[in-house]
Amino acid sequence: MRFTVTDLLMKKKEKQKITMLTAYDYPFAHLVDEAGIDMILVGDSLSMVVQGNETTLPVTMDDMLYHTKIVVKSTKRAMVVADMPFMSYQVSIEEAVRNAGRLIKEAGAHAVKLEGGREILSHVKAITEAEIPVIGHLGLTPQAFLRMGGYRLQGKTEEQAKRIIEDALRLQDKGAVAIVLEVIPSELAKEITESLEIPTIGIGAGVHCDGQVLVIHDLLGLFEKFTPKFVKKYANLREDVLKAIIKYKEEVEKGEFPDKEHSF
Ligand code: KIV
Repeated sequence: MRFTVTDLLMKKKEKQKITMLTAYDYPFAHLVDEAGIDMILVGDSLSMVVQGNETTLPVTMDDMLYHTKIVVKSTKRAMVVADMPFMSYQVSIEEAVRNAGRLIKEAGAHAVKLEGGREILSHVKAITEAEIPVIGHLGLTPQAFLRMGGYRLQGKTEEQAKRIIEDALRLQDKGAVAIVLEVIPSELAKEITESLEIPTIGIGAGVHCDGQVLVIHDLLGLFEKFTPKFVKKYANLREDVLKAIIKYKEEVEKGEFPDKEHSF
């Protein structure tokens, strides 16, 4: 049985922590599902950790459809959330509903995630009215990289914090089923979490959120360009993979591979 929106809301009510990780392909989606993680986010971080771009901005609807389809096919239990990429929902409400619908209908996602607050309330309402579960995303919203001038802590001033709290309440009001809070002070995340009936899922937002999400390449030590303060590396796969590849190269060059055991 897949983890559903009902399970999500139940976990909040029963004060059980929600687990979420990103995945973009068969090997990782399969492992994340096997480990019993509640929700898999096919994040637009795909652009950076899989496609090697500097920001999340270049990733397209076609890319998201392709990867979401693979993740859905590779999993049995987790709820699969597809990120709506930059410019797939900002232009008009109609486009937002159409593109959210494509992620559900063509790729098989179980929910979509959109970045932003008051600017996208009508979009969230319209997508929800099309019976598609929406997850909001507030605080550091990487699609606003150019306007924000980098990836920085958000909600530091009283005014900024007030705006994020108001946005969270408005998103809930328009039908969002959960909200990702990215890189905001822990105390602000606590206040938001306590004010909402829907769960908050934090990334760099402290321990008080109802759940946590990380980019799997960060958690496994596979992304070398930069490591934000909130990332805990549970493994250093980059080093292991590099060692394995260098060993293979050496063995091929010395004529040690393939040996008898690996030949017919
Ligand atoms: O794209 C992504 O991976 C995300 C997470 C950082 C929440 O939006």
